[in-house]
Amino acid sequence: MHSNYSRPRVLLHWLSAVIILWTLVSGFYVAYNPVSAATEHWIGSFNVSLTTLFIPLFVWRACLFVRALEPHGTAPSPIKTLAFAVHAMVYLVIAVVLVTGVLMMKSAISVFGLVHFPQPLSDPALIERASTIHTSACVVLSVLVALHLCAVAWHECSGRRVVRRMTFAKPSGAMIRRAQK
Ligand code: HEM
Ligand code: HEM
Repeated sequence: MHSNYSRPRVLLHWLSAVIILWTLVSGFYVAYNPVSAATEHWIGSFNVSLTTLFIPLFVWRACLFVRALEPHGTAPSPIKTLAFAVHAMVYLVIAVVLVTGVLMMKSAISVFGLVHFPQPLSDPALIERASTIHTSACVVLSVLVALHLCAVAWHECSGRRVVRRMTFAKPSGAMIRRAQK
């Protein structure tokens, strides 16, 4: 038996984690700290390119998440239900962040200068609304990520090797026994 998460889910999890953590930290840093116009510009355009490329990866990951929802026979424990609810919220909030990010664009979306997509909205009031939702959704996502990291740390400190489940390593004997219960 291999780890509980399939290879694509493990790969997509860590790729998404790096992209999301970088974009949240750098985006908020640039927005609320004095930085040069050049830094603001390169971080802004780099992040728009990176997160636009991330959209198809996110769609793929969400499909794998939904596909894994098929009933497994036994009723899940309350802790598993809570973990599932938080994970589903994370997916929902990421979707809102991505959609509003695209909608708030005030110029064409350039992906590293190689591909360009037209600016979707032209009404300044709608763009402003998308921008407000984008910022709020990013705050909610930051809180959910912090909760997620606390939950992972708590499981690890309680002897449940959850990080191992999110790697290509085979589960330990204890994990196989627990999974069989
Ligand atoms: C993983 C997805 C994303 C995350 C975590 C994210 C995060 C952020 C954060 C933290 C900010 C700063 C918020 C503020 O100004 O208060 C921001 C701003 C912004 N985001 Fe996103 N974003 C994501 C996706 C996108 C996408 C897909 C686009 C467009 C294609 C986009 C376009 C923008 C723009 C235009 C700004 C304003 C930057 C500026 O004022 O120069 N974002 N984003
Ligand atoms: C260094 C940072 C991170 C660590 C150490 C970490 C660790 C983990 C671990 C161990 C699991 C498996 C939990 C289980 O056994 O079910 C997991 C699942 C998950 N993580 Fe993270 N994570 C990190 C960052 C993130 C970020 C930034 C996000 C997204 C915003 C995220 C979203 C998820 C989701 C949605 C799941 C559920 C499984 C899936 O659908 O792929 N994680 N994480």
